[in-house]
Amino acid sequence: MWLSVALGVVPLLMWLFWQWNNIWYGLVTASLRSSEGGTNLPPGHMGFPVIGELFTFLWYFKFLRRPDDYINSKRRKFGDGVGMYKTHLFGRPSVIVYSPTVIKFVFRADESFKLEWPNVELVGKHSVVAVHGKIHARLRNFISKSVNQPEALRRIAATVQPRMIAALESWAKRRTITSYKEIKKVTFENIGMFFASLEPGATLDMLGEYFVGLISGVRSYKMNIPGFAYYHGLQCRKKAIAIFNEELEKRKKDFKNGSSESMKDLMDGLMRLKDEEGGQLSDIEIVDNIVGILIGGYETTTLATMWGVYYLAKYPKVLQKLRDENMQLKSSKNEQHVTSDEIFKMKYTMKVVDETIRMANISPVIFRTTTKDVTYKGHTIPKGWNVMLWIRYLHTDPENFNDPLCFNPDRWDVSMTPGTYQVFGGGSRMCVGNMLARLQIAIFLYHLSTGYTWDLVNPDGKVKYLSNPKPEDGAEITIKKLEL
Ligand code: HEM
Repeated sequence: MWLSVALGVVPLLMWLFWQWNNIWYGLVTASLRSSEGGTNLPPGHMGFPVIGELFTFLWYFKFLRRPDDYINSKRRKFGDGVGMYKTHLFGRPSVIVYSPTVIKFVFRADESFKLEWPNVELVGKHSVVAVHGKIHARLRNFISKSVNQPEALRRIAATVQPRMIAALESWAKRRTITSYKEIKKVTFENIGMFFASLEPGATLDMLGEYFVGLISGVRSYKMNIPGFAYYHGLQCRKKAIAIFNEELEKRKKDFKNGSSESMKDLMDGLMRLKDEEGGQLSDIEIVDNIVGILIGGYETTTLATMWGVYYLAKYPKVLQKLRDENMQLKSSKNEQHVTSDEIFKMKYTMKVVDETIRMANISPVIFRTTTKDVTYKGHTIPKGWNVMLWIRYLHTDPENFNDPLCFNPDRWDVSMTPGTYQVFGGGSRMCVGNMLARLQIAIFLYHLSTGYTWDLVNPDGKVKYLSNPKPEDGAEITIKKLEL
C-alpha cells in the first residue's frame, strides 16, 4: 500500500499542485465565458497555488543572476507564437509581454490596459502617476513644459552644474568613493533645487532620508505595523509632506504680499497651474505631484548616471572617444558650464547616454491591469489580470540588438527596429522626464570625462537585479584629477 502511495498518489498530488493554477484559471475563465465559446489563454505555465512562478522568477533573477534566461526558457518551452505568456507572479494571474509588436499593442490600447500603482497612497492619489483621463493629460502637459522642454532644460542645465562640479572635486580629494551613494546625493540636491528651491542642508538631508523610506514602502507588502517597510514609508511620507507644506505656506504668503518672483521652480509652477475654468490645484494635489515626480526621477537618474560611470570604466576606448568630443567643446569655451543646446549637439555623447540607458534597464518591467477581456491573435487576457511589459528583454534580445550585452554606442549609427528601444515606456504614460534625464547624465559625463580618470574597485564584482540592476558594491571607484 505504501509503495502504491509513494509511486501513485504522491506524484499525482505533486502534479496537481504544480498544475493547480493552470487548471484553476483555465477552467474558471473558460467556464465563465462558456457562452462565448470559452477562452484561449496565452501559452505558459502559472506555477503553484498562491506563489505561482515566484521561485522560478527568483531563480533566474536572484540566484543565477541571468534575468534574461527567464524569458529565454519560456521561449524554448512554449515557442514564440504570440509574444506573450501567461504566468502567476506577485500574487496575481499575469501575462508577460516580451515582443515589440505586442508591447506596442498594449501601449496603444490605453483604455484596456490601465496603470495601477501598488500602495498608491504613498505616492499620492492626486499624483500624475496615479490619476487618469483629462486631469492626467493636463498635469503631464504642464510637467513636461516645466522640466522636459528646451526652455526649462536650459534653466535646469545651469542649475545642476555647480553641485556636480563640487561633488566631483570632493570625490577626487577622497580618492575612493561609492558612485551610487554619491551620485544619489548630488541628484537629490539638484532635484531639491529645481523642484522646490531647497538649498543643500539639514532639511534637504532629512527629506532625502524620508524619500528613501517612502520609495521602499511603495515596493513593499502592505503591512501597516511598526517594523514593516510599508508602515515606515507612511511615516516618511507624513514627514516629507510636512516639509513641503511649510514651504507652500511660505509661498502663499509671498503671493499675497506680491513679493513672489516669476515662476522659479516646479512647486511654483504647480501653484499657478489653472484648468479651463480657472480652477487651481489644492495643496495636497501640489504636494502629491512633487512626490510623484520625485519618485519618477530620483532613483532612475541616479542609477543611469552610475551605470554611465561603470560602463565607461569598463570600456576605455568608448571613454576615449567621449573624452575627445567633450574636450573639443571644453577647449572652445571660456566658462566652465555647458549649455543644454551644446550638450544635445554632441553626437557621440548622446549615443553613450542612450547606450547606457539601454544597458542599465532601470525600469525592467512596466505594469498594467486589464480593464476588460482583451483578445490578441486569438488569445485572451482576462479582465483584472496583471500585464507585465518585459521592457528589459527588448533591450537584451539579440534579435533586436546585435551582441546586446556589449556596451557599444556606435550601434546607434544605424536606426534600431521600431519598438525595440522603450527605456522610457510608451503611450500616454511615457516618461515625462526623458529629456531631463538624458541631459543630466550627459552634463555629468562632460565634467567627469574632461576633468577626471577613474577605475572600478571591483571590475568583476557581481551585479544584483532586484529591485533594479545595480553592482553589489554600488560601483565603488578610485578617482583622481586628469593630468593633461
Ligand atoms: C534614466 C532615467 C529614467 C528612466 C529610465 C525612466 C523610465 C520611465 C518609464 C519606463 C516610465 C513609464 C512607466 C509606465 O508606463 O508605467 C516613466 C514614467 C515617468 N517618469 Fe521617468 N524615467 C527616468 C527619468 C525620469 C525623470 C528625471 C523624471 C522627472 C521628471 C521622471 C518622471 C516620470 C514620471 C512623472 C512618469 C509618469 C508619467 C505618467 O504617468 O504619465 N522620469 N519613466
